[in-house]
Amino acid sequence: MEYRRLGRTGLKVSALCLGTMTMGWTSSRADSFAVLDAFVEAGGNLIDTADIYSFWAEGNPGGVAETWIGEWMRQRNIPRHQLVIATKVRGRMWEGPNGEGLSRQHIMKAVEDSLRRLNTDYIDLYQTHWPDEDTPLEETLRALDDLVHQGKVRYIGASNHPAWLLTKALWISDRLGLAAYASIQPHYNLVHRAEFERELMPLCRDQGLGVLPYSPLAGGFLTGKYRRDEPPPHGTRGTVSESVRRYMTERNFVVLDVLRQVAQASGATMAQVALAWLLHNPVVTAPIVGANTPQQLHELLGALSIRLSEEDIARLNQVSAWE
Ligand SMILES: NC(=O)c1ccc[n+]([C@@H]2O[C@H](COP(=O)([O-])OP(=O)(O)OC[C@H]3O[C@@H](n4cnc5c(N)ncnc54)[C@H](OP(=O)(O)O)[C@@H]3O)[C@@H](O)[C@H]2O)c1
Repeated sequence: MEYRRLGRTGLKVSALCLGTMTMGWTSSRADSFAVLDAFVEAGGNLIDTADIYSFWAEGNPGGVAETWIGEWMRQRNIPRHQLVIATKVRGRMWEGPNGEGLSRQHIMKAVEDSLRRLNTDYIDLYQTHWPDEDTPLEETLRALDDLVHQGKVRYIGASNHPAWLLTKALWISDRLGLAAYASIQPHYNLVHRAEFERELMPLCRDQGLGVLPYSPLAGGFLTGKYRRDEPPPHGTRGTVSESVRRYMTERNFVVLDVLRQVAQASGATMAQVALAWLLHNPVVTAPIVGANTPQQLHELLGALSIRLSEEDIARLNQVSAWE
């Protein structure tokens, strides 16, 4: 396993991060435990979750992924310091006006709930899931800073923040001497580039922020298993949600054509090449992959040993270029 520093911090994280959004959604408890086992066996230490995962799944109130991670750690007797656990706060977790958001009120209860579910007394990376226009940034950052001083949180990060807001947050932390965001978790993959590359990427490079791209396989689209004019394969997310269907455009199928050619020429799978393309970008710390089974995860881990040529990178960049 390759380890990288999370931005400018001294924290070393595995170059692939394991996402847990599938837990309690498209992955059973047994499969989720097996995926976690396989990840740790391969040397992975960075696990991404969120308090709300996966509330959109039928019968799931949220909190299931955190609970399963906590149970898995206890059952497997994993030394806590071996893992870097990243979770998130912002989504609705209880009824009432303060059941969601980034107010001090919400954060202070949400963090206790996450700690309890995760069966731990600290969170390595506590991330604001998406912005909250109703709360001043200063209030959120002061609350997060308090958690760092209390030892409940080690580092803080942001997710889904536009560049201007992230810049403002860094400026406030600097001005007030508060803990500052060390990382950003953006939606970034070969068929979804502009949102990150336009303004966030130069900001991250300049400020030395860690970058943890989510949906690096476009929810499975970049594995190549979805074909033009063919119904999605049975039993996958494509049949049940819009999270893959939205990628199924003619433009993106053209990107897949080139991805398939590069994969065949390099003896790798399309998923591995899609991840290797992200890993080749020096601004990227660790893509957050989702896997429903250990078999899926093993294939994805193979991306770490692939070195794409400059020519392959140029072809992929060109076919997926944005205006
Ligand atoms: N911050 C945010 O707002 C945010 C948003 C989304 C996700 N995330 C984080 O990012 C993580 C990853 O997101 P994602 O699930 O969208 O990532 P992804 O890596 O783009 O897609 C993962 C999905 O691709 C399919 N897949 C994976 N490996 C495969 C293989 N070898 N062969 C065939 N299919 C394969 C699986 O779905 P099927 O088997 O169902 O096809 C799997 O669930 C989440 O778990 C979460 O931690 C964060």
